[in-house]
Amino acid sequence: MESSAPRPMAARRPATPLSGQAHVPGDKSISHRALMFGALAIGQTRITGLLEGEDVLRTAAAMRALGASISRDGADWLVAGRGIGGLTPPEDVLDMGNSGTAARLLAGILATHDFYSVMTGDASLRKRPMKRVIDPLSATGAVFTAREGGRLPLTIQGARDALPITYRLPVASAQVKSAILLAGLNARGVTQVEEPEPTRDHSENMLLHFGAELTVRQAGRGRIIRLTGQPELRAADIIVPGDPSSAAFPLVAALLVPGSRITLTGIGLNPLRTGLFETLREMGAELTVRNHRIAGGEPVGDIVVEHTQLRAADTPPERAPSMIDEYPILAVACAASRGTSRLRGLNELRVKESDRLAATAAMLRAAGVHVEIEGDDLIIHGVGSPPGGGLVETHMDHRLAMSALVFGQITQAEMRIDDASFIDTSFPGYVPLMRKLGAAIS
Ligand code: S3P
Repeated sequence: MESSAPRPMAARRPATPLSGQAHVPGDKSISHRALMFGALAIGQTRITGLLEGEDVLRTAAAMRALGASISRDGADWLVAGRGIGGLTPPEDVLDMGNSGTAARLLAGILATHDFYSVMTGDASLRKRPMKRVIDPLSATGAVFTAREGGRLPLTIQGARDALPITYRLPVASAQVKSAILLAGLNARGVTQVEEPEPTRDHSENMLLHFGAELTVRQAGRGRIIRLTGQPELRAADIIVPGDPSSAAFPLVAALLVPGSRITLTGIGLNPLRTGLFETLREMGAELTVRNHRIAGGEPVGDIVVEHTQLRAADTPPERAPSMIDEYPILAVACAASRGTSRLRGLNELRVKESDRLAATAAMLRAAGVHVEIEGDDLIIHGVGSPPGGGLVETHMDHRLAMSALVFGQITQAEMRIDDASFIDTSFPGYVPLMRKLGAAIS
């Protein structure tokens, strides 16, 4: 990805409202986990609806390099697992591309496999903190070396007789929680993770789906998760719902472009992922969920959304984990609302694919919107229809690129982005899907 030429793009107001029906690609978090847990199970796992984005393909390549057999079968994917502790040493460096989830979860798996491996990533991933997983995972007996500041490339010598960990997360991170649970699968005894705020629970759901012994107990606002090590995971089929974090882009576009009405089908509605929908409803949005159902152990539904003039937002810090990836697009909605919004407690945004707090503020400023960062809060002075006319630097960050292309649908002058190529990490087919709904992107 890094060597490919940048793909600049521009977005402007469409001549007609957005309309129609669309199905967004599979959930990124669930797709990574399906490949990883499938590779650790005994038997064949069939995955329907896997996200075929660059990030997930990196996970597939890494699990293959570790001995799992992974293939396509029509539109489905098949994983023949090696069993807990059954992966084999990779012959080459594991390159996780742009994906923090792939890198951190894989570090958990490698920590309790008794062999040596090396992991790297692209220029964005090589800047991101890995100490948050290295510190707890070292307690298993694994030995890590990293570049200064705990950055990739990373070497890992997995523990021989791995010890189970008891750990309280210092930051609300599903990636760190999942890395510890994955390590705990091959440790003797009970691994315990306490999270002060609940974060996405796809790992817990999938472990139960594969027959692991796992309990979750409420503890204050957070949760305590206990996993018994060295279970036999039994392969189980997985249906991946549409990614609510991807649905957020067409959804907000339809909310903002006057006269629009669209339907997004088969979207994952796990309550630990739907903070954006809750916030948009508080801002006055009409979101109707139809066809509510359970698919592959996760709640799913079709969302109908139509244009609404939004009010400003004031979001509490404790809601951040349930919409952590949605702040750039929420910021676009706030810029198009009337009034001053305050999005609170965004410290974790600084360590995403880019410094998303600074980059989101810069995106809004490029459109002439007045923005401030106060501590960890983002304050946005909404103006209805911002002037636009700016160039957005996307910093190898797919969500900034997609947000800016939505923004251009309502700014007075067009918005340009320096590079759309990273969109493929999470949402292949984004531009054609948006165009089909009526967005103006060139
Ligand atoms: C993810 C967790 C979140 C999120 C990321 C996917 C996951 O990261 O930002 O896109 O699949 O566990 P953190 O857990 O680091 O907040």
